[in-house]
Amino acid sequence: MTEQPIDLTAALARFDELWSPRIVARVNDYDVRVAKVAGEHVWHAHAHTDEFFLVLKGKFRLAVRDDQGERAVDLAPGEIFVVPAGVEHRPAAPDGAEILMFEPTGTSTVGERHDPVPAHVDVTTGHPL
Ligand code: NI
Repeated sequence: MTEQPIDLTAALARFDELWSPRIVARVNDYDVRVAKVAGEHVWHAHAHTDEFFLVLKGKFRLAVRDDQGERAVDLAPGEIFVVPAGVEHRPAAPDGAEILMFEPTGTSTVGERHDPVPAHVDVTTGHPL
């Protein structure tokens, strides 16, 4: 990994694929990932880890559901949200967005439990930039 500063704008300019996170840094055993997103992802849950989201650009919506039911969490640039381990969630961005995620290295984009994965969703543990 580089020891140079990482320009997130430049990093995001290096790829166009949607729902296909790029690993821009590692922090101990965690990845810092950035992704371009548009439309809906898929309902899924990460059994063993929380998942951190920071919105960099655009409007981002996390649908979440747990024992208390389903709700939508709307996030603007500069806002963060942590989905607790085990909580089902479905990221979405009708008009497109750019996000940063922080999660353990090896974490799958669709978790361990998920609805059928549509073709536009990249099932990955993150790609090198
Ligand atoms: Ni997730």
